Amino acid sequence: MPLVETTPPRALPEIETEGFQRLPVSMGELRRVLGGGIVPGMGVLVGGEPGIGKSTLLLQLAAELANRVGPTLYVTGEESAQQVKLRAQRLGITAPQLYILAEIHLETILQHIETMDPTLVVVDSIQAIYSDALPAAAGNVSQVRECAARLLRLTKAHHIPLFLVGHVTKEGTIAGPRVLEHMVDTVLYFEGERFHSYRVLRAVKNRFGSTNEVGIFEMGEKGLQEVPNPSAAFLAERLPNAAGSAIAVTMEGTRPLLIEVQALTSTTSFSQPRRTANGVEFNRLLLLTAVLTKRVGLRLSDQDVFVNVVGGLRVDEPAADLAVATAIASSVRNVPVPADVVLIGEVGLSGELRSVAHLPRRLQEAANLGFSRAVVPRTGASKLKEDGSTLRLVKARTLSEALEAVLDS
Ligand SMILES: Nc1ncnc2c1ncn2[C@@H]1O[C@H](COP(=O)(O)OP(=O)(O)OP(=O)(O)O)[C@@H](O)[C@H]1O
Ligand SMILES: [Mg+2]
Repeated sequence: MPLVETTPPRALPEIETEGFQRLPVSMGELRRVLGGGIVPGMGVLVGGEPGIGKSTLLLQLAAELANRVGPTLYVTGEESAQQVKLRAQRLGITAPQLYILAEIHLETILQHIETMDPTLVVVDSIQAIYSDALPAAAGNVSQVRECAARLLRLTKAHHIPLFLVGHVTKEGTIAGPRVLEHMVDTVLYFEGERFHSYRVLRAVKNRFGSTNEVGIFEMGEKGLQEVPNPSAAFLAERLPNAAGSAIAVTMEGTRPLLIEVQALTSTTSFSQPRRTANGVEFNRLLLLTAVLTKRVGLRLSDQDVFVNVVGGLRVDEPAADLAVATAIASSVRNVPVPADVVLIGEVGLSGELRSVAHLPRRLQEAANLGFSRAVVPRTGASKLKEDGSTLRLVKARTLSEALEAVLDS
């Protein structure tokens, strides 16, 4: 077994780290999620819902490395070679060094990897592969585990990076990537809404880099394009001075991201008003409407409330609370939030504004995008140095104070 070290223990300084050169990845968003590039022999699992773009991303990657480094192997277990070719044609990929293998038999795949010794192997997907060693059908947990383990063992021994596609099922009954997460070096999740063009690639585990990083892509006719300036993209279609719209500054990993939160309130025709949350957590919305009712005195008991995060994004961060609450208040009062304002802060149950992490970085991003005022929690802002930033800070202690500052001026 190649993984068993036959050498005696070695002192730390004597261990060479050559061969640890990262392979170049030109797509900056992918490179950042991988922690700076592809490490030889690394095993990467890419999970994501059906149709999100896993095959597209990995075909693009395999083609790029084929053109820049050397032959790559794309094993397709779900689609025929012709289907992959059609996708490549649509994406405008010409890569003479990219080899497609339509195969689901593990032992055959291993043999091809050994004889070809490619620069990179993609297996799409691991659930489609089966081994003779086990009686179970492909996709069965034991098959998935066995196939992944043997692929990883071989590619690690040959220092070939391996990308495995894994399906996520809603029920989690079929072997999903969870089984595999401990076996690979890096786990990436590809997220986004099918009907929106933005996709977020998130590292949830990485032995060769930070797990906080995300890459943002846009799915289009020509495949996945990186979005190097996502904040600007998410704000591009914004109507300035429309009631019910507010800008939040969230952190995706180490990167601040400006997003538009929209709210619409209308008099309900039901005995119980409806609350609908898209992109924010439903319970968070209930909490914020309760705080708006009780602490701010906003009348929401006869109002349906719809909240939406633009671009199909999901925001799980409490720092977006203030923007969500402000968007709702803006819609109820039919007063727009001024177009040059961003809102940052967590809202507590007493209606207080709580400080958030990474405030300076969030403010910098807002300033970069041309915003001139930021409403921030007073507690967090007191520590903030008055630097050369052009952004004017509006420090608020409570949600009421914040709303007064942006909606009553
Ligand atoms: N002609 C086209 N123009 C633009 N986008 C397309 C076109 N055809 C397909 N797509 C996009 O590609 C997506 C499918 O991507 P892909 O096959 O890479 O997903 P996947 O994650 O591998 O899916 P699966 O889990 O089914 O294998 C579609 O959802 C669609 O958004
Ligand atoms: Mg696919």
